[in-house]
Amino acid sequence: MSLDSFPENLRALVIGSSGGIGVAFVRALQGTSAKVRVEQLHRHSSPLIDFADKKSIHLAAQSMAGRGPFHLIINATGMLHNSHLMPEKNWLIYSMNS
Ligand SMILES: NC(=O)c1ccc[n+]([C@@H]2O[C@H](COP(=O)([O-])OP(=O)(O)OC[C@H]3O[C@@H](n4cnc5c(N)ncnc54)[C@H](OP(=O)(O)O)[C@@H]3O)[C@@H](O)[C@H]2O)c1
Repeated sequence: MSLDSFPENLRALVIGSSGGIGVAFVRALQGTSAKVRVEQLHRHSSPLIDFADKKSIHLAAQSMAGRGPFHLIINATGMLHNSHLMPEKNWLIYSMNS
């Protein structure tokens, strides 16, 4: 991935930096210049962020405000599925719920 158009002293924040997409963005950004600073947030970072916990969002925002301003913020968090929720619907699910 080429990210050559960003300034040499880029300051970026990647939320969800522990995930597949987040890791790829962190690597790509750090590879553009030694002066690039990439802050990272996820549920096990310090500070941590958990979108299911409002207090952690507030604390993470406060902490990141002191490290900005950022040229770029990437939110690579998400949940494709869990034990109750699937991304695609099919006729089997429809018939189970009706
Ligand atoms: N990979 C693909 O090909 C693809 C394609 C289309 C769309 N997407 C979507 O793009 C998003 C990211 O994909 P991915 O493959 O990188 O997923 P992933 O590897 O599962 O990473 C998910 C990221 O979200 C973080 N996260 C999960 N729950 C969180 C919560 N409650 N609060 C804060 N952070 C949370 C995880 O961090 P911790 O678990 O460390 O906290 C992790 O950094 C997903 O929504 C996925 O559905 C992915």
